Amino acid sequence: MKKIILMRMAVMVGLIGLSAHALAENVQSLRGAALEENSTDAIVMQYQKDEEPIPRDYLQQPPLIPHQIAGYQVTIKHNKCLSCHSWSNYKAKGATKISQTHFENRDGAVMSNVSARRYFCSQCHVPQVDAEPLVENTFEPVDAMRH
Ligand code: HEC
Ligand code: HEC
Repeated sequence: MKKIILMRMAVMVGLIGLSAHALAENVQSLRGAALEENSTDAIVMQYQKDEEPIPRDYLQQPPLIPHQIAGYQVTIKHNKCLSCHSWSNYKAKGATKISQTHFENRDGAVMSNVSARRYFCSQCHVPQVDAEPLVENTFEPVDAMRH
């Protein structure tokens, strides 16, 4: 009996191995292109060191993040960004406090805590790397925003 079970297991392990091998060979995108063909190695970017706030280029721009955010987690239970940027913590941490818009829900009502739509900070705020622009950009800030 033991032998039969062992043999079945061996056959199963073999099958799993085979199918994983077959899958690896045929990984395709939804458009049908083989995924391995166009992939390039990931480039490890150097995020810029902590700096002063970066000037804004247009009204309503989410300010760029002038510091590193490696390891800063935002989960359903904990928001690392708010440990410095919330109204209760910003003074002690020397950070900018989130503005009142971060408390408004989509109907414009002001909540007593950060609105769910402003909870995932990096949806709008992004840290900076020293890299060539991916596309040419000739955007000029309006006069009122020139520094
Ligand atoms: C350890 C404290 C700390 C944490 C955690 C932190 N920040 Fe900051 N943040 C700062 C400080 C300090 C500044 C710069 C304030 C200054 O120099 O005026 C700053 C600046 C900023 C600014 C620029 C504000 C402006 O007016 O230009 C943004 C945007 C920002 N942080 C977003 C974030 C986000 C998003 C996270 C989470 C991913 C985060 N920060 C986590 C301390 C922190
Ligand atoms: C849906 C986009 C969005 C999300 C999500 C968001 N922000 Fe903002 N944030 C903005 C915009 C736009 C501004 C500039 C205009 C304003 O104050 O509303 C801003 C401004 C700020 C400022 C500068 C405030 C000031 O008085 O100049 C800080 C600091 C900041 N956000 C931090 C955060 C943190 C921390 C989170 C996460 C808890 C967060 N933001 C989530 C869009 C967003």
